[in-house]
Amino acid sequence: MYLESKIISEDPIEELMSKMTLAEKIGQMTQITLETVSKRKHSTSEKLELDDEALRTALLEFHVGSIINVYSNAMSFEDWNFFISKIQDVACKESRLGIPVIYGIDAVHGANYMLGGTVFPQNLNLAATWNRELVRDIARVTACELIESGIHWNFAPVLDLGRHPMWSRFSETFGEDSYLTTELGRENILGQQNSGYSVAACAKHFLGYGQAHTGRDRTPVLLPDRVVRELYLPPFSEAVKSGVATVMVNSGELNGRPVHADYRLLTNLLRDELGFEGVIVSDWEDVEKLHTIHRVADSSKDATLQAVRAGLDMSMTPFTFEFSKLLKELVEEGLISERRIDESVRRILNLKRKLGLLPRNKDEFPETIQEKSIHIPSQEERVALNLESARQSMVLLKNQDDLLPLKPGSKIVLDGPASTSLPMIHGSWTYTWQGADASAYPDDISTIATAFASRFRLQGKVSDIDPLDHDVDPIVLCIGEIPSVEKPGDVNDLDIDKAQHAFVHDAILTGRPVILVLFAGRPRLLKDLSDKVAAIIWAGQPGPCSGRALADLLDGSFSPSGRLPFTYPKHSAVFHTYDHKWADKVGADYGLGQSFSMDGFDPAWEFGSGLSYTRVSYEALDVQNTVSGLDVFITIRNHGSHIQRENLLLFVSDEYASITPAVKKLRRFESIVLDAGTERIVQFALPRADLMFVDEFGKWVFEPGSFKISVGDLSKIIFVGTQIGLDPDQPSR
Ligand code: BGC
Repeated sequence: MYLESKIISEDPIEELMSKMTLAEKIGQMTQITLETVSKRKHSTSEKLELDDEALRTALLEFHVGSIINVYSNAMSFEDWNFFISKIQDVACKESRLGIPVIYGIDAVHGANYMLGGTVFPQNLNLAATWNRELVRDIARVTACELIESGIHWNFAPVLDLGRHPMWSRFSETFGEDSYLTTELGRENILGQQNSGYSVAACAKHFLGYGQAHTGRDRTPVLLPDRVVRELYLPPFSEAVKSGVATVMVNSGELNGRPVHADYRLLTNLLRDELGFEGVIVSDWEDVEKLHTIHRVADSSKDATLQAVRAGLDMSMTPFTFEFSKLLKELVEEGLISERRIDESVRRILNLKRKLGLLPRNKDEFPETIQEKSIHIPSQEERVALNLESARQSMVLLKNQDDLLPLKPGSKIVLDGPASTSLPMIHGSWTYTWQGADASAYPDDISTIATAFASRFRLQGKVSDIDPLDHDVDPIVLCIGEIPSVEKPGDVNDLDIDKAQHAFVHDAILTGRPVILVLFAGRPRLLKDLSDKVAAIIWAGQPGPCSGRALADLLDGSFSPSGRLPFTYPKHSAVFHTYDHKWADKVGADYGLGQSFSMDGFDPAWEFGSGLSYTRVSYEALDVQNTVSGLDVFITIRNHGSHIQRENLLLFVSDEYASITPAVKKLRRFESIVLDAGTERIVQFALPRADLMFVDEFGKWVFEPGSFKISVGDLSKIIFVGTQIGLDPDQPSR
């Protein structure tokens, strides 16, 4: 007993909490946006000015523990440091207990709100690289640049799955596959948190966001529990295992319950089952929305009660102090215990402690990375990493008659709206939330056109081409979508807009070969254009190095290696994923003849598609059944005279199972560099866990039987007999 109380009193967080009033504790659970303490509300033309009075009300009267976001537009590192120091000065020097604020931001593809920071390709592009190392290095640079700005909390990575290409946040995801998302999500978290920069990552948005049948943001999602567990949960369980410091809740509803009010998801699943000990933060205004939008609470107070009872630690309010007032009332009325409040406050203060914000002497803040002996990447390293990720993220989908790479000295016609647009090549969350305001971009970023000017002999525009000339120099047409995200990004279809479609047609009519380059945060339907153009590159939103990277691809200085992390649809209303079921494959002639075609799955390009200039062949596949699982050996060969990066994807198909099996599932991948003319054997160990699926009771099970292992164009069927995880009393098996 004596020992226990001694330990508790020596813990600086417990000591601090013992001094805190209820209002001070609840303040720690309150998070507001910068605009709430600024003089003007949202202005793109005027610079941020803090409202000293509003700041003091927030920090001294309501004891707010966290501030987030950007004020309209990106700011320089100096400005960030200036404003955050001002905020911390009030929090640390003027408040009774001197607890610093934890500042949070969405640096979802690099330091996208810092002028002079490194904006990297969007996650969807990074997924197309299949390169864990790149993802980790990028996360590391991002963490470094956040700390250089005085920011310790990053609302990234997005671990939602991009399984509906109409969803406005598709580009923020690592694509449609659960395993790929799990792997790259972990790399991002480790890169941010384990590089010595004192940054907390945030796995978001827990759980089941983005899979609305409408494709619209924050609309209802219906997913059977077993699907949630098999596909949507693994990226989050891996994040928790990797030590992610914080988790943000899904703004929407899952199976009829808004996640912010779901005790089963936030407490039973996330806390108790996954063992998450960090901070659970709400999304934007989502406690209040339990009342105003979802209507599971008949008042704001009830909404607050439900969210805190469900397991929320911090509410992104973000404009008001209602949450603090109502939560205090709920505690005073005995509807929420002070012990419950203490649990959340302890987590929040411990987060601050881990980040080096606590304990502190009053004059110590802000901590700078210069004080630590950590590698700070040079500007050259940042640019090189960015260029390399942009190159590896572009996917060559069609290359008729080996038109690409262009012959040395070729002349080209460069045209299309994306060739001169910075927003189109960067995507959302770039300098502004939507990323569409070109005037917010720094002047020194090259468009495709400026980057090409020094690399190619450019020959005017499509409209300059004389229909009678018989010139065969190709046209490089860069088309795209104006970026948008979240609710403002809801779309009604995936068509390329009419004007751009007509423009591509005009280019085709010139008779010259057209190289179509699509800059978009998702697939856009190419329909009849696909057959008529000579080459197609899905470029995604690779960011500031787009021009150089594309030039490297076109002139052959870099042989493409990107592969689609999603299934590219061909038709307006048919969106399959690669891990569809066999019934999805059945063609429309079903029932009309003796045999039916299996062409129901008919995408424009399959998940994993991507061409290169150098031929890499898959020579041999050997699968050995061992006690612990399967050992797979693949021999690959580079037939070319150049080095080639090959992204190797290994799929497993469970041939027959009690829950209809997917036609295949990605179980392993590796990004490998092969020297010219060399051969290599790549080995994968597949433990039995990788042959399992989630059954109707929500349990991972293994059923013995035949499994097809496929890599490239090789495959092998193997019988795996050992029963693991089976309950012999279950009647169905
Ligand atoms: C988004 C989150 C983001 C938050 C803070 C919300 O609208 O859904 O992903 O972290 O805003 O900016």
